[in-house]
Amino acid sequence: MAVDVLLGLQWGDEGKGKIVDYLADRYQLVCRFQGGPNAGHTIWIDGKKTVLHTIPSGIFHDHMINVIGNGVVIDPVTLIKEIDALVASGNDVIGRLHIAKKAHLILPTHRLLDMASEASKGADKIGSTLRGIGPCYMDKTGRNGLRVGDVLSATFDQKYISLRDKHLRLLKQYPEIAHDLSGDEDKWFEAIERMRSLNLIDAEYFLYDHLKAGHNILAEGAQGVMLDIDFGTYPFVTSSNTISSGVCSGLGIPPTAIRDVIGVSKAYCTRVGSGPFPSELLGEDGEKLRTAGHEFGSTTGRPRRCGWIDLPQLKYAVMITGTTHIALTKLDVLNAFEIISAVNEYQLDEATTQQLPFDLMEEITGVVTSQHQGWMQDIVVDSFEDLPKEVKSYIQFLEKELSLPISYVSIGPGRDELLVR
Ligand code: GDP
Ligand code: IMO
Ligand code: MG
Repeated sequence: MAVDVLLGLQWGDEGKGKIVDYLADRYQLVCRFQGGPNAGHTIWIDGKKTVLHTIPSGIFHDHMINVIGNGVVIDPVTLIKEIDALVASGNDVIGRLHIAKKAHLILPTHRLLDMASEASKGADKIGSTLRGIGPCYMDKTGRNGLRVGDVLSATFDQKYISLRDKHLRLLKQYPEIAHDLSGDEDKWFEAIERMRSLNLIDAEYFLYDHLKAGHNILAEGAQGVMLDIDFGTYPFVTSSNTISSGVCSGLGIPPTAIRDVIGVSKAYCTRVGSGPFPSELLGEDGEKLRTAGHEFGSTTGRPRRCGWIDLPQLKYAVMITGTTHIALTKLDVLNAFEIISAVNEYQLDEATTQQLPFDLMEEITGVVTSQHQGWMQDIVVDSFEDLPKEVKSYIQFLEKELSLPISYVSIGPGRDELLVR
């Protein structure tokens, strides 16, 4: 029995969904532990694309139990839509999906508050997905939130009205945020009614029993280390702990149960939304990465900002998360680059450093890069040994820098386009 963790080492969208789907066969359970429908985890199976926002990426394996943990914030409408789409395409979801009663609910007014917050920040906005994530977590820590288990209470409607009215009072300060809640509320309550018939569980006991029975759990992260509320590029972050500790608080699992931490990183780097991004490429190379990597947000469709892989950033992410294995994704996106760069150090005013300063935006004045020979060919191989020598050399360089094995190398979006060492 063990809990392994899979999380993003950069600013999200590293390809977590694809790797979870691949690894799922080794586990009995896959559990989301934080975030909400701001996440978009893409899985390609037999040429069909699915983007999961709330449901764990183990759902396509028939044996697999999928748990949405207490650390997740759930938009009932998004959840039900996702379930219906999966059922319509022939997946048995209902019996295998379990939802923690302690997970918090996103209300329609949380989304309005998200809009209001972003509008009031003007040019300094976070670039939120506007899914109500921040306001929902604020109600959680402010001890005002509604939880999944509340839907079974006779006083649920009153609890809802009380929180909604509090939000409406706040929204009076933002007359520019127009709202007509009636349609949204109807849909929300329909979704709540559907949720009542799902498997709503005391997830901490449920997971404890599975571990006692010798079952293995994969904890699936959303977002990435640099979007962590404590250790990310604050305030340009999301509102949850995306790092390994989030597994303990987001599932009720003791730290001693955790075995491996699989950190997922692109072979380059992207970020969507505002905030510092030291290795960002604003010119031709950035555009080339965006086009080759189809770098448009899975949740919002926004173009992702693109740059080279950033080693000080990755070393920091590895340090904070205790990563034991790396999954390197989207290597194929670099196929047409003659030279591939990597950021080795940051320039500060007077010095260079490999450490992330307190304020990346204010303190970093430039980057020091190393150059690596590209392979200038498509990667069509079945094993790591058969990779072109320039690819191997780039991978070995990263392994040496990060002092970690790159155990998985992804060379395309499909399920089978993965080399395992
Ligand atoms: P996640 O949020 O970490 O699960 O990642 P997303 O699904 O938001 O974004 C990753 C994108 O890259 C998706 O469109 C995937 O289908 C795609 N993808 C994943 N791995 C690879 C890969 O190795 N090569 C290419 N070309 N695309 C990949
Ligand atoms: P996955 O799980 C990439 C970003 C948003 C914004 C900031 C805050 O697919 O990797 P929020 O909606 O939480 O208020 O947004 O975080 N962000 C993500 N970027 N991938 C994600 O999830 C993200 N979830 C949030 O763009 O900059
Ligand atoms: Mg994503």
